[in-house]
Amino acid sequence: MTMLAKQTQQKALHWLGRQLFNRDDPEAFFDPLLERINPMWVQEYTPARVEQILSETGDTKTLVLKPARRWSGFRAGQHVNICVEVDGVRRNRTFSLSSSPLLWQEQGLVTLTIKRLPGGLVTNWLHDHLQTGAVIGLGEAFGDFLIPEPARPVLFIAGGSGITPVLSQLETMAAQDYRAPVTLLYFVRTRDDVIAREKLLALKARYSALTLNIIATNESREPRYLRGQDLDAVPGIKARQVYLCGPKGLMDLAQGLLSERGFADADIHSTFFSVPSANLGNETLGGEVQFEGSQMVVGSEGDATLLEIAEAAGLTPRHGCRMGICHQCSCRKTTGTVINRLTGQTSGPGEETVQLCISVPRGPVSLDL
Ligand code: FES
Repeated sequence: MTMLAKQTQQKALHWLGRQLFNRDDPEAFFDPLLERINPMWVQEYTPARVEQILSETGDTKTLVLKPARRWSGFRAGQHVNICVEVDGVRRNRTFSLSSSPLLWQEQGLVTLTIKRLPGGLVTNWLHDHLQTGAVIGLGEAFGDFLIPEPARPVLFIAGGSGITPVLSQLETMAAQDYRAPVTLLYFVRTRDDVIAREKLLALKARYSALTLNIIATNESREPRYLRGQDLDAVPGIKARQVYLCGPKGLMDLAQGLLSERGFADADIHSTFFSVPSANLGNETLGGEVQFEGSQMVVGSEGDATLLEIAEAAGLTPRHGCRMGICHQCSCRKTTGTVINRLTGQTSGPGEETVQLCISVPRGPVSLDL
């Protein structure tokens, strides 16, 4: 090495040392560099290596992931955003963790159980292209679909891939020897669609508080949906905390049957996998949306959300779940009125934060985007 090269190298090392020791947060320095190498390695996502890919059913796989140790862990029933690059474009999606937090604490592993969705860009990519050894981005866990503490009798009603957070909760309850009756009514189209069948049967065998009832909806001449008798047959139903997770039809049916039985909202906990929609039938929706930062004005009609309108205009706002759960799409509305597609509630006309993925403009709206 020449003298000049040596001096340059020493200066570079000194500079790097100063950068590191003068900063409270070295990741804030490294992340922009890492982002150039791999955009997933920014601070909001932790690299997680795919250790194993397990087939659950014809259209559902479980990813066993090993996140870097900087990841903060989770509570049973919570969700995470993941970040993957699909055809050169960074994509975020939200999934429930299906493993118990104990697996993370003891072995540094977590699992996501993911069903292929018809037309689903990311779920199809995960099923068709993700390989063992690949690295994906894992966000911090969030969500309040949490087991009651101290122990109280629980009824889980799950449908299809809505079983995933419940798997995490049941594993945790069994490990903690949660001493209150726990019933799971699990609805699947056919017996072949049962996700984590062996795990559920093993849980039932070793966790005596658990009653497991798997109901196939499409195996008889008449579809067999949730019925009032199913609820009435659960011992001590009135004292149960009820946890709902599944498709909108099942959730609506369960909510109706529970409210007929006098359940208070506080005793019903729900999370969902597709965006439930309030009845916005009589509302006049749509309007001009001004994206102030991008100096763009775009017209919209019908119940398109602000996120859909922005994307159709070629913008790429930050987002995760597209279901109103993760708040990653939160954005400042400066003027105008929006309707919440989940609840049907109308916002005020002034400045406030809105979630782009569930907000539908009603008349002209300006966004700080
Ligand atoms: S993208 Fe998750 S709340 Fe909007």
